[in-house]
Amino acid sequence: MKIGIAYNLRGEAETDPSLPADTDEEFDSPETIDAIAGVLEGGGHQVSRLGFGREILERILDDPPDFVFNIAEGHRGRSRESQVPALLEMLSIPYTGSDPLTLALTLDKDLAKRVVSSRGLKTPRHLLLDSLRLLENDDLRGLRCPLMVKPSYEGSSKGILLASRAGSLREVNEQVRRLFSNYGGPVMIEEFLGGAEFTVGVIGNSPPRVLGVMMIRHRTLPPEDFLYSLEVKRDWENQVEYLAPPPIDDSLLRRIEHLALAAYTALGCRDVSRVDIRLHDGEPHFLEVNPLPGLSPEYGDLVIMARKMGWSYERLVLDILDHAGERAEEERRSAGGR
Ligand SMILES: Nc1ncnc2c1ncn2[C@@H]1O[C@H](COP(=O)(O)OP(=O)(O)OP(=O)(O)O)[C@@H](O)[C@H]1O
Ligand SMILES: [Mg+2]
Repeated sequence: MKIGIAYNLRGEAETDPSLPADTDEEFDSPETIDAIAGVLEGGGHQVSRLGFGREILERILDDPPDFVFNIAEGHRGRSRESQVPALLEMLSIPYTGSDPLTLALTLDKDLAKRVVSSRGLKTPRHLLLDSLRLLENDDLRGLRCPLMVKPSYEGSSKGILLASRAGSLREVNEQVRRLFSNYGGPVMIEEFLGGAEFTVGVIGNSPPRVLGVMMIRHRTLPPEDFLYSLEVKRDWENQVEYLAPPPIDDSLLRRIEHLALAAYTALGCRDVSRVDIRLHDGEPHFLEVNPLPGLSPEYGDLVIMARKMGWSYERLVLDILDHAGERAEEERRSAGGR
């Protein structure tokens, strides 16, 4: 099969010095594109690098691929992850991963949490601030400190620093100011959950299944002081321990898996996703889902988890492609009559 890879490369955003330093944190390195291409070629496919923007348009029109392996995060705004899938749908080219609606919905943490909680699933209470203003105690509408102050639609911990956990109204306001000046709004203020943190790999469709549950634990800090911030992610080798399977009892493991699968289904995720979960009073709560999980062969959380669960990088990438292929075939067959 002729497979094109759609992606954004780190460095794309470097030309604008007015943007914050983590502007292209979500984007991929050439090593990741090479690794994915290597696996696809090893699987007998002919691979083309499509990139993003004008390039992808020109390359697809010039030599249309049969299938696209999509890891493009897109540019600007909360619908940015939908840009490539929308283009591919317009051209009837099948691709890996979720559709434009799910990618937009899940990038917007406020909307994703509303859908998840409408299914009776637990997620920390939050409020959304659309424009910059300094808050008074009453504005917190009963939310209790410590509070997590984060951008409503960023990923890869962009904008999330250790200081994002605010212990007082004054600290909340400091973070609100910082986020509006670096990223614009909206800003989400969410109750900080001080229990253990997990990320869950979910793969496949009808039914999806859990690839693994990984506990993310700081080497020295207790969970109530830990957040998987940008500083920590950039220094993960020194600061974090990844435990998969996690050292927890079976009943808790089942509840974490159930929440991840239920959130994946509620949000319409396809083929693969990574669901972030934290405990509060021993109960798993949904934080967010990443339907375009990082696939760096070295530091991608899903890749690390898969490796710990006995999956090679090759198997992970080819499995995503297989699930997407079967799903696309199923969609083609069921649309055939229309
Ligand atoms: N309400 C919360 N309570 C406790 N910790 C939180 C909360 N919200 C976020 N965090 C911490 O901040 C980290 C990053 O938050 P979140 O997953 O929302 O951001 P992200 O940038 O989308 O992450 P990703 O890198 O997975 O795309 C979480 O992994 C968690 O450690
Ligand atoms: Mg996350």
